Amino acid sequence: MQVVVLNGVNLDVLGRRDPELYGGVVSLDELETRIYEWASELGCHVRCRQTNSEGEYVAWCHDALDWADGVIVNPGAWTHYSYAIRDALDLLAVPIVEVHLSNIEEREKWRRHSVIAELAAKRVIGKGPDGYREALEFLVATEKA
Ligand code: DQA
Repeated sequence: MQVVVLNGVNLDVLGRRDPELYGGVVSLDELETRIYEWASELGCHVRCRQTNSEGEYVAWCHDALDWADGVIVNPGAWTHYSYAIRDALDLLAVPIVEVHLSNIEEREKWRRHSVIAELAAKRVIGKGPDGYREALEFLVATEKA
């Protein structure tokens, strides 16, 4: 199984963001290392990508059309307003898992809305870095089912 993890805007500076909200002081590098370890335990192949460019994020969604069996997305703040990313994700026929490190349901009002929520086969919210593990486990279980 081939999974792509697409982290979006400002997740490159994860280690500098509020540890109370984002599940401890974890850098993007550390997060990706954990994701690669979990993937190898679960027997799937994963590719992690991060960008601060919305156009690049859209291009990576298109790229995933050609090879990914599952997609894990945390578009950061784009989650709340990017119809361009929503349209790109809508092209995918494979399961999408939406992950947020922080609990967006209990933060500012504008964060509670996700324009991609209804495209997600599963949403994992407020579980910090472990949320990505849950997302991988879900995709592996879905593939086996
Ligand atoms: C986030 C939540 C978003 O509201 C925020 O803009 C982010 C990160 C999260 O993982 O909790 O950048 O997606």
